[in-house]
Amino acid sequence: MEPGACVLAAAFADDPLMIYFWPRSRRRRKALPLFWDARIASRRQNGLVDLAHDAEGNLACVALWEPAGVVSPMAKPLTMLRATGRSTIRALAAGRQLERARPATPHLYLAAIGTLPGSQGQGLATALLERRLSSAEQPCFLISDSHGTVPFYQRFGFEPHGELTIDHGLVVYPMVRAN
Ligand SMILES: CC(C)(COP(=O)(O)OP(=O)(O)OC[C@H]1O[C@@H](n2cnc3c(N)ncnc32)[C@H](O)[C@@H]1OP(=O)(O)O)[C@@H](O)C(=O)NCCC(=O)NCCS
Repeated sequence: MEPGACVLAAAFADDPLMIYFWPRSRRRRKALPLFWDARIASRRQNGLVDLAHDAEGNLACVALWEPAGVVSPMAKPLTMLRATGRSTIRALAAGRQLERARPATPHLYLAAIGTLPGSQGQGLATALLERRLSSAEQPCFLISDSHGTVPFYQRFGFEPHGELTIDHGLVVYPMVRAN
């Protein structure tokens, strides 16, 4: 399993999009490490995986990026299929919606960032974001899964860019950071 899969699984345990994919918490707990294992593997092949460690040296924060012009291929498709299970069609459809929301012009894409719940508030995500954004040569784009995280991203210069309704009233929040 990719280092970082369990970090993102824990960080996203109560994420609205993850709950939409796997409404039952037991199922979600089993699926999330597999899901993030495949997502990290795909970015490792053709994207950027940034890691931060806590004061004890344990991996505690992971950010996944796609540089301009890159759309990461599906890695570990069987692992992903095991993760999505009966929710495969739902997950694929949502994934297509998220992809379609991306700007047509070149951009750095923040695909995900998450910090272990016990390590949050220590500046780990800020350090990863600032490092990558300070050297960004293009506008940057992300889709926040929850309205609550929008102010966090605004600290780094991202601005809300409309809303995207996925299904059953689930709304996600595209954000753009001009360069
Ligand atoms: C959002 C997240 C990545 C921040 O990670 P972190 O390592 O705790 O972030 P930092 O320590 O660098 O920054 C924490 C600061 O951001 C603020 N912050 C964190 N989450 C926030 C939120 N949802 N809304 C507003 N502010 C938030 C904290 O209050 C803290 O403020 P302070 O510096 O004034 O004390 C982390 O809370 C997380 O993993 N959340 C669950 C996964 C998630 O929602 N990811 C984004 C999905 S789109």
